[in-house]
Amino acid sequence: MNWLEEGWRHVWLPYAQMQTAPLPLPVARTEGARIYLEDGRVLVDGIASWWTACHGYNHPHIRQAVAAQLERVPHVMFGGLAHEPAYRLATRLAAMLPEPLNRVFFTDSGSVAVEVAIKIAVQSRLNRGERGRTKILAFTGGYHGDTFGTMAICDPEEGMHSLFTGLLTEHPVVPLPRDEASVAAFDAFLAEHAHTLAGIIVEPLVQGAGGMVLHPPEVLRHLRRAADAYGLTLIFDEIFTGFGRTGTMFAFEQAGVVPDIITLSKALTGGTLPLAATIATDALFEAFLSDSPATALMHGPTYMANALGCAAANASLDLFESEPRLAQVAAISAQLARELEPCRGLPGVVDVRVLGAIGVVELAEIANPAALRMALVAQGVWVRPFRSILYLTPAFTIGEAELAQLTRAIFVVLSEK
Ligand SMILES: Cc1ncc(COP(=O)(O)O)c(C=O)c1O
Repeated sequence: MNWLEEGWRHVWLPYAQMQTAPLPLPVARTEGARIYLEDGRVLVDGIASWWTACHGYNHPHIRQAVAAQLERVPHVMFGGLAHEPAYRLATRLAAMLPEPLNRVFFTDSGSVAVEVAIKIAVQSRLNRGERGRTKILAFTGGYHGDTFGTMAICDPEEGMHSLFTGLLTEHPVVPLPRDEASVAAFDAFLAEHAHTLAGIIVEPLVQGAGGMVLHPPEVLRHLRRAADAYGLTLIFDEIFTGFGRTGTMFAFEQAGVVPDIITLSKALTGGTLPLAATIATDALFEAFLSDSPATALMHGPTYMANALGCAAANASLDLFESEPRLAQVAAISAQLARELEPCRGLPGVVDVRVLGAIGVVELAEIANPAALRMALVAQGVWVRPFRSILYLTPAFTIGEAELAQLTRAIFVVLSEK
């Protein structure tokens, strides 16, 4: 395959030691929950391409919407020009989210959506003349992106960005308030440092890239109470959890609390095009209004609100309205719980956990993730072990037999270890 061998000399892969990285698997096409490889093999996809393809690949409704948009307007700059898909998408997102989350800022990746959230939290205070509250409180095990701004609010010890510790803006990172001792420590931290903080950021219910670590809804209620008590902007990063992944349309619904800012991406376009959104309350938006250009939000990625991405996102929202996605997530959840549970008895397995359409088997350690990945490919599935976990985040449209193939493959490879 010429393109692979030629391009291999020029492509730089994500999260990869290029000296030892194996050649990636060449993909010929995708359909539903399946990846068709160039060599004829077919893999059932357990990851939905980093949690994006919630309706399965190549859903005809999204394909048609994107094709129709491509004919009309693939992209126009968002400064000074408007197009229907973005304005309609903003209206729909605001209608889906509770009051007063009404103001949508579009970007082109999750990391940048988080950068914008930080900027809104900090600048809204500066605009009101409040100085010195520039820090964002983040949590151990958290992940919010790979840009310099977002690396600064990721867990500093967890490997991905530890090399940069000391070079980044310093933000406090503390354990989630999830039991008596951590709640007391969290409360004490705020009593001492809240005057330096603009806001708090958390991945609600599950810290994804940190290892699919779950926490109960009460944690979010505690954060909401604390944010209210100290006047802090509460940011829920739902880039992973948004659009049904945890069993409700948004994870925060399970806690019965509303953030001041929510960030969305990944499944926003059903996994077809890169798009992200930062949605803020009316009050935060109003903090940017004045007679002076100096208080405006100075942000504007070139491909902001890309019309193809917005058309895909609108089509994805249509599917959430017209097809039984949350019921599918509930069925997946029950099947994952049932079929992954037997892994608990296997050597090296320390935990099995399920939330919504997320199933996790945690091991004491994974010495060679690449070898494990290839053992899974040999079983006909695409699963990407990382840290010490094997996890499944399939498309919500996956068939029962396909999901059984995924859970079975995990059981088999762990039994053979
Ligand atoms: C919770 C969360 N926030 C932010 C990001 C970064 O998104 P992106 O990779 O699109 O920049 C991710 C990506 O995995 C994420 O899971």
